[in-house]
Amino acid sequence: MKTPSEIVAAVRDLNARASDSQEMMQAVVRLLAAERPYYSWTGFYLMEGADTLVLGPYHGKPSPHTRIPLNQGICGAAASSGEALIVDDVNADPRYLACSLETRSEIVVPIKRDGKVLGEIDIDSDRPAAFSDEDRRLLEEIAEIVAGRL
Ligand code: SME
Repeated sequence: MKTPSEIVAAVRDLNARASDSQEMMQAVVRLLAAERPYYSWTGFYLMEGADTLVLGPYHGKPSPHTRIPLNQGICGAAASSGEALIVDDVNADPRYLACSLETRSEIVVPIKRDGKVLGEIDIDSDRPAAFSDEDRRLLEEIAEIVAGRL
Protein backbone atom coordinates (compact mmCIF):
# COMPACT_ATOMS: atom_id res chain seq x y z
CA MET A 1 0.00 0.00 0.00
CA LYS A 2 1.42 3.35 -1.07
CA THR A 3 1.97 6.09 1.54
CA PRO A 4 0.02 9.35 1.12
CA SER A 5 3.05 11.10 -0.43
CA GLU A 6 3.58 8.21 -2.85
CA ILE A 7 -0.07 8.47 -3.89
CA VAL A 8 0.28 12.24 -4.44
CA ALA A 9 3.39 11.61 -6.55
CA ALA A 10 1.47 8.99 -8.57
CA VAL A 11 -1.39 11.48 -9.10
CA ARG A 12 1.06 14.13 -10.37
CA ASP A 13 2.49 11.56 -12.72
CA LEU A 14 -0.85 10.42 -14.13
CA ASN A 15 -1.93 14.06 -14.42
CA ALA A 16 1.10 14.69 -16.60
CA ARG A 17 0.21 11.72 -18.80
CA ALA A 18 -3.60 12.11 -19.05
CA SER A 19 -4.81 13.86 -22.18
CA ASP A 20 -7.76 15.58 -20.49
CA SER A 21 -9.40 16.11 -17.10
CA GLN A 22 -11.87 13.22 -17.55
CA GLU A 23 -9.06 10.76 -18.25
CA MET A 24 -7.13 12.15 -15.30
CA MET A 25 -10.07 11.84 -12.87
CA GLN A 26 -10.77 8.32 -14.13
CA ALA A 27 -7.17 7.37 -13.39
CA VAL A 28 -7.34 8.98 -9.93
CA VAL A 29 -10.43 7.01 -8.85
CA ARG A 30 -8.83 3.79 -10.11
CA LEU A 31 -5.63 4.54 -8.21
CA LEU A 32 -7.44 5.39 -4.97
CA ALA A 33 -9.65 2.30 -5.15
CA ALA A 34 -6.57 0.10 -5.65
CA GLU A 35 -4.47 1.75 -2.93
CA ARG A 36 -7.13 2.20 -0.26
CA PRO A 37 -9.30 -0.95 -0.04
CA TYR A 38 -11.63 0.69 2.48
CA TYR A 39 -12.62 3.27 -0.17
CA SER A 40 -15.69 1.31 -1.30
CA TRP A 41 -16.96 3.96 -3.73
CA THR A 42 -14.79 6.79 -5.05
CA GLY A 43 -16.04 9.47 -7.38
CA PHE A 44 -15.95 13.05 -8.58
CA TYR A 45 -18.83 15.49 -8.69
CA LEU A 46 -18.40 18.67 -10.75
CA MET A 47 -20.33 21.92 -10.40
CA GLU A 48 -22.81 22.72 -13.13
CA GLY A 49 -23.87 26.36 -12.89
CA ALA A 50 -24.15 27.74 -9.37
CA ASP A 51 -26.29 25.15 -7.64
CA THR A 52 -25.94 21.60 -8.98
CA LEU A 53 -23.32 18.89 -8.64
CA VAL A 54 -23.08 16.43 -11.53
CA LEU A 55 -21.50 12.99 -11.21
CA GLY A 56 -18.20 12.63 -13.06
CA PRO A 57 -15.77 9.70 -13.24
CA TYR A 58 -16.23 7.18 -10.42
CA HIS A 59 -15.14 3.71 -9.33
CA GLY A 60 -17.70 1.46 -7.68
CA LYS A 61 -21.35 0.62 -8.13
CA PRO A 62 -23.47 3.01 -10.21
CA SER A 63 -24.95 5.74 -7.99
CA PRO A 64 -28.58 6.85 -8.29
CA HIS A 65 -27.38 10.37 -7.42
CA THR A 66 -26.11 11.65 -10.74
CA ARG A 67 -27.24 15.22 -10.01
CA ILE A 68 -27.25 16.69 -6.49
CA PRO A 69 -28.59 20.18 -5.72
CA LEU A 70 -26.30 22.11 -3.36
CA ASN A 71 -28.95 22.10 -0.65
CA GLN A 72 -29.04 18.29 -0.55
CA GLY A 73 -26.85 15.51 0.76
CA ILE A 74 -23.48 15.45 2.39
CA CYS A 75 -22.12 16.28 -1.06
CA GLY A 76 -24.22 19.45 -1.23
CA ALA A 77 -23.23 20.45 2.31
CA ALA A 78 -19.50 20.15 1.59
CA ALA A 79 -19.75 22.07 -1.69
CA SER A 80 -21.84 24.81 -0.03
CA SER A 81 -19.39 25.29 2.84
CA GLY A 82 -16.26 24.79 0.74
CA GLU A 83 -14.86 22.67 3.56
CA ALA A 84 -14.10 18.95 3.78
CA LEU A 85 -16.71 16.89 5.61
CA ILE A 86 -16.18 13.56 7.36
CA VAL A 87 -19.28 11.65 8.47
CA ASP A 88 -18.44 8.71 10.75
CA ASP A 89 -21.96 7.24 10.67
CA VAL A 90 -23.97 8.13 7.58
CA ASN A 91 -27.15 6.57 8.97
CA ALA A 92 -27.09 9.06 11.84
CA ASP A 93 -26.80 12.07 9.51
CA PRO A 94 -30.15 13.38 8.23
CA ARG A 95 -28.45 15.01 5.23
CA TYR A 96 -27.20 11.66 3.90
CA LEU A 97 -28.39 10.52 0.44
CA ALA A 98 -27.95 6.75 0.27
CA CYS A 99 -25.98 5.35 -2.63
CA SER A 100 -25.54 1.81 -1.29
CA LEU A 101 -27.05 0.03 1.71
CA GLU A 102 -23.57 -1.14 2.77
CA THR A 103 -22.15 2.38 3.15
CA ARG A 104 -21.34 3.30 6.75
CA SER A 105 -19.14 6.41 6.53
CA GLU A 106 -18.26 9.10 4.00
CA ILE A 107 -15.74 11.84 3.26
CA VAL A 108 -16.29 14.72 0.83
CA VAL A 109 -13.47 17.09 -0.10
CA PRO A 110 -14.18 20.18 -2.23
CA ILE A 111 -12.06 20.97 -5.29
CA LYS A 112 -11.41 24.72 -5.24
CA ARG A 113 -9.59 27.29 -7.34
CA ASP A 114 -9.17 30.83 -6.04
CA GLY A 115 -11.70 30.01 -3.31
CA LYS A 116 -14.36 28.93 -5.83
CA VAL A 117 -15.74 25.39 -5.55
CA LEU A 118 -15.41 23.61 -8.92
CA GLY A 119 -16.45 20.17 -7.69
CA GLU A 120 -15.54 17.60 -5.08
CA ILE A 121 -14.12 14.18 -4.35
CA ASP A 122 -16.69 11.91 -2.67
CA ILE A 123 -15.71 8.63 -1.01
CA ASP A 124 -17.92 6.09 0.75
CA SER A 125 -16.72 3.28 2.98
CA ASP A 126 -18.48 0.14 4.11
CA ARG A 127 -16.57 0.54 7.40
CA PRO A 128 -17.91 2.82 10.14
CA ALA A 129 -15.72 5.87 10.87
CA ALA A 130 -13.27 4.83 8.15
CA PHE A 131 -11.84 8.28 7.41
CA SER A 132 -9.17 10.13 9.35
CA ASP A 133 -7.40 13.47 9.05
CA GLU A 134 -4.77 11.65 7.01
CA ASP A 135 -7.39 10.79 4.37
CA ARG A 136 -8.60 14.40 4.43
CA ARG A 137 -5.08 15.79 3.92
CA LEU A 138 -4.35 13.30 1.13
CA LEU A 139 -7.60 14.10 -0.68
CA GLU A 140 -7.10 17.87 -0.25
CA GLU A 141 -3.72 17.56 -1.97
CA ILE A 142 -5.26 15.54 -4.79
CA ALA A 143 -8.13 18.06 -5.07
CA GLU A 144 -5.58 20.83 -5.55
CA ILE A 145 -3.89 18.93 -8.40
CA VAL A 146 -7.27 18.23 -10.03
CA ALA A 147 -8.29 21.90 -9.65
CA GLY A 148 -5.29 22.84 -11.76
CA ARG A 149 -6.64 20.66 -14.54
CA LEU A 150 -10.31 21.73 -14.56
N1 SME B 1 -23.93 10.10 -0.07
C1 SME B 1 -23.89 11.30 -0.88
C2 SME B 1 -24.54 11.06 -2.23
C3 SME B 1 -23.62 10.53 -3.26
S1 SME B 1 -23.37 8.86 -3.19
O1 SME B 1 -22.69 8.53 -1.93
C4 SME B 1 -22.40 8.37 -4.42
C5 SME B 1 -24.55 12.44 -0.15
O2 SME B 1 -25.16 12.23 0.91
O3 SME B 1 -24.51 13.55 -0.64
